[in-house]
Amino acid sequence: MHLLLQEADESGKGLKRTLSAGALVALGIGAIIGAGLFVRTAAAAAQNAGPSVTIGFIIAAIGCALAGLCYAELSSSIPISGSAYTYTYATMGELIAWVIGWDLVLEYAVGAATVGIAWSEYLNKLLVEVLHVAPIPYEWCHSPFQTSMDGVSGIMNLPALFIVGLLSLLLIKGTSESAFVNGLIVITKVAIVVLIIVLGWHFVNPANHTPYIPPAGEYIDNAGISHHFGGIMGILGAAGTVFFAFIGFDAVSTAAQETKNPKTAMPIGILGSLAVCTVLYILFAHVLTGIAPIEFFRTKGGEASVVAAIGEYMTGYSWLANLVTVAILAGFSSVILVMLLGQSRVFYSMSRDGLLPKMFSDLHPKFKTPYKANLIILILVGLFAAFVPGDVVGDMTSIGTLFAFMLVCVAVIILRKTNPELPRQFKTPWVPVIPILGVLVCGAMIFGLGWTNWLRLGGWLAVGFFIYFVYSRKHSILNNTGRTVIPKDPPAPKL
Ligand code: ALA
Repeated sequence: MHLLLQEADESGKGLKRTLSAGALVALGIGAIIGAGLFVRTAAAAAQNAGPSVTIGFIIAAIGCALAGLCYAELSSSIPISGSAYTYTYATMGELIAWVIGWDLVLEYAVGAATVGIAWSEYLNKLLVEVLHVAPIPYEWCHSPFQTSMDGVSGIMNLPALFIVGLLSLLLIKGTSESAFVNGLIVITKVAIVVLIIVLGWHFVNPANHTPYIPPAGEYIDNAGISHHFGGIMGILGAAGTVFFAFIGFDAVSTAAQETKNPKTAMPIGILGSLAVCTVLYILFAHVLTGIAPIEFFRTKGGEASVVAAIGEYMTGYSWLANLVTVAILAGFSSVILVMLLGQSRVFYSMSRDGLLPKMFSDLHPKFKTPYKANLIILILVGLFAAFVPGDVVGDMTSIGTLFAFMLVCVAVIILRKTNPELPRQFKTPWVPVIPILGVLVCGAMIFGLGWTNWLRLGGWLAVGFFIYFVYSRKHSILNNTGRTVIPKDPPAPKL
């Protein structure tokens, strides 16, 4: 273990400690606000909880805060690239590390597809409402598993494929977003959320909030899938769905090495960005479910819901709808970029360990980016974006990430036992209480997501096990060299 750390230390020598707690909060918010708020909130209200989706946000935030504190300890004690995958490799061995790496594909790759699909919904709003041209025909912006209210079947989602392709090519070229552009996008995102809350507040119709927690029952969606609606199960299901809106805050914990005074800055960065987003999300969800009835989000307002609701119920505010559309398209793009980047980092680390073929870590001769990994990710994400409905990929992202978070919580407890002397720049308070609570709250959300999602997660893990036993175990550098430490972290690729 200490060899691993020594190597991490050497590879991290070049990094300057430049980030303050405030910068970390901005970094977090930039990666967080996206499709979760602008698409999944309305879906959770329509399918699970009605107005009480706000309570779902509180539960999701608690789960994230608990897991976030665990993430921060691991990233400050094992500060090498690869995120939760690397942490579990060091603490729980290769098989579990594989499970988590495979699971993170759900967080990053399937998450990117979800935001791509959301991007496609808002693109049509841009074409029709802002540019006043014809929309993309239904069949070319929906998956084959979707049918419109007039009975048109989807074929493939071309705009979602387009944006994912475009951003993958940008990544291959190595165009990383500048801090300035990121700052601009953060300010724009927060500004439109605040604008909607403030201006929408006057349009809240108390009738839409009655009852605030609908009685427990069932809702069957257009695809024939049944969801718990109302009551505690409805709220837990909504929490699992809107959990998507918080994904990305773990990006803060990976910046531990570049942070000034990580002991205090880390918890402020993680909990601060979570707190800001939670307050904004609750107010936003309260307003959104107040201006339009649930029925609207189940029918006409099922897509690009926020702009659809403003257009339908906030008379005189079409300028707001237009502004939101443009800002969201830019905001979603930056979230997709961060997710594609995260995915290529995880694949890169797994390939260096021999669990994936070497080509996943081959760097482009000129651009110095893992271009082959990026292209394979493009195919994977593209397939999900083009052919799977947004609801399905969104909940798959949530359940996969929740599962990864649970393993991260367990890893903290294990590492405290097996390596108590390990220098930790940040220590999770009240171990094992916080990690255990983290496991319980994330587990409750997994429970709330219902059996269709458990099956999807099970199926995904089964494919993962198959690949592990057929390929990865035989090619693992650790297994085949008899080494007891993780191979040296290579120089970071230009991402
Ligand atoms: N939290 C990010 C979003 O909502 C993934 O789009």
